[in-house]
Formats: sequence, C-alpha cells, structure tokens
Amino acid sequence: MLKELTSFKNLFQDFWCPTFYVEGVNKFQKHFDAKDNDVFVASFPKSGTTWLKALTFAIANHQRFSSVDNHPLLSSNPHELVPYPEFMYSNDMHDQILSLSNMSEPRLLSTHLPFHSLPESITKSNCKIIYICRNPFDTFVSAWEFFTKIKPEFTFEEAFEKYCNGITVFGPWWSHMLGYWNESITTPNKVLFLKYEDLKEDTVFHVKRIAKFLDSPIIQGEESSTVIENIIKLCRFEKMKDLEVNKSGCIFDVLEKKNFFRKGEIGDWMNYFSPSMIEKLSKIIEEKLGGSGLSFKVHS
Ligand code: A3P
Repeated sequence: MLKELTSFKNLFQDFWCPTFYVEGVNKFQKHFDAKDNDVFVASFPKSGTTWLKALTFAIANHQRFSSVDNHPLLSSNPHELVPYPEFMYSNDMHDQILSLSNMSEPRLLSTHLPFHSLPESITKSNCKIIYICRNPFDTFVSAWEFFTKIKPEFTFEEAFEKYCNGITVFGPWWSHMLGYWNESITTPNKVLFLKYEDLKEDTVFHVKRIAKFLDSPIIQGEESSTVIENIIKLCRFEKMKDLEVNKSGCIFDVLEKKNFFRKGEIGDWMNYFSPSMIEKLSKIIEEKLGGSGLSFKVHS
C-alpha cells in the first residue's frame, strides 16, 4: 500500500494526500482525542523528521531513560518510538489505535498533515507541536532518492516539475511550511518551528529551545550541558545510521529503515541540479515564501 504513496487523485483539503490515506485522515480528524500534554512532531517529509523524533524522544524521556547505554533509541527506530496515528487510521490498525490511549505520558506522536488538516482536538487542545522543515532544494533531492527506492516512477526531471507545481506527498511544500510558520508566530507556545539547517548548524542551541518549549528540566542544573551533549551524541546521524536496528528491517512494511539515513548533509542538491533548475526553484521560493519571513540556508 505504501508503494502508492505518490498516487493522488485530487487535492484533498488543499493538499496532495496519497489516495490510500484519505479515508484514514478523515477518521483521524473525526476520532483522534488529543490530550493536553501530547507532543506532536510535525514535518514535511524528508525534512529531518527522524532526527527530530529522536531528539524529542530523548529530551522528553530524559528522566525515564537517563542512561544512554541502554536507551530505547539504541534498540528501536525513532519512527517506532514516535508513531503516526494518521497512518494507523489509514490502515485500520485497531490494536495500535487502542494502544494510543495507554501510551506513557506525555505521548509523543507525529504527523505529516498540514496544519489546517490537523484534527480539531489537536489544534484546540493545549498539546504542543514541534515542526521541522528544510530548504526546498535538499528536501526535493532527499525525497526523490527516498521515493525512487520504493517505486521508481519518475525521472529526476519529471519529479522536479511536479515538485515545482506543489505536487508531492503532503504538498504543496510551501503551504505546508507556511501553515506551521504562521501558526508558530501567532501561537509560539503551541508551535515551535525548526529548520534542519539551523539544527545542524547549532544543535545545542536548538535542543535547548526544544527542551524549553517542552518545559524539560534538562536545561537546568549543573549537569545540564553534559545531559544535552549526551542527547545530541545519541541522536547524531553517524551514530544512528550505524545502529543495527536502523540498518535492516522496515517500518510500515515497505519503508526500509536504512533509507531514512542517507547523507544527512546540507547542500547535496548541488550534485543534482542543473542551472535552469536552480533558477526555476529559486524563483518559486521567492514567489511563494517571499515576504513571509521564512527563508533558508541552501548550502553548508
Ligand atoms: P538526506 O536524504 O539528505 O540524507 P526524514 O527523517 O524527514 O525522512 O528526513 C530524512 C533526511 O534526514 C535524510 O536526508 C536523512 O539522511 C536525514 N537524517 C536522518 N537522521 C538524521 C540525523 N540523526 N541527523 C541529521 N540528519 C538526519
């Protein structure tokens, strides 16, 4: 079924929702019951979701798992620890849906839905959302590499044309980003907005921002710097890529865990884009994001 991730019929609620997901999104919107202390990791696909899930899990569970030697992140993939309820609803995974109510609190959950399509129980409750996005150049390359491995459907050029028209899983990417961006400005206590490039450039600073947003005690006390350093080390790209648990096996049946850890760099797009592609995407970024205050660093 996930091989159909890039099959869309029409825009659904103003976004390109994979056809097999539509019914599940409806059910998620209707039945999901958010708790005030829930934390959602929200993202546009291929923006660093896996990394943010790992960091958020380690920060939020610091008191439960203070030792990094037998930490759950060493034996489980971040997507298993921070699941997508919308996926459970899309696949009628009744047992998993039921088990959501027994998860230890605060529940850490995730979503790829645009802000305007989140269930009301999420937007209206006090639960918090940490959103990550990434410069549109690297996001595109990362997505193309990832989805081509699942289903080699389009050439790089064909996929690029679609991407420029917003036609990509959960796209248009610009409205996805802007939905959370605007919300993070109007309700900063509800939505924390992060960019992959910023997280890479100054991980300590942004981990502290996440911890503060979650009211985590890790930013206080004498041990604070060591705790933060250990969390960052635990979630480092090279460390996670090298873990047995992330080297083999699949999540959701067809998504190979190893494919979530490719290069983890800023600027890999330069190895892929022609000058005319650079010009075209730069213009779209200016047209869609110009004036919003949202901009990206595109190379390291
Ligand atoms: P690349 O394909 O450019 O390497 P997502 O988790 O949203 O699917 O995003 C995947 C991207 O994040 C991939 O980018 C992947 O390599 C990168 N990534 C995964 N884990 C990471 C980590 N711990 N630190 C930095 N980048 C990471």
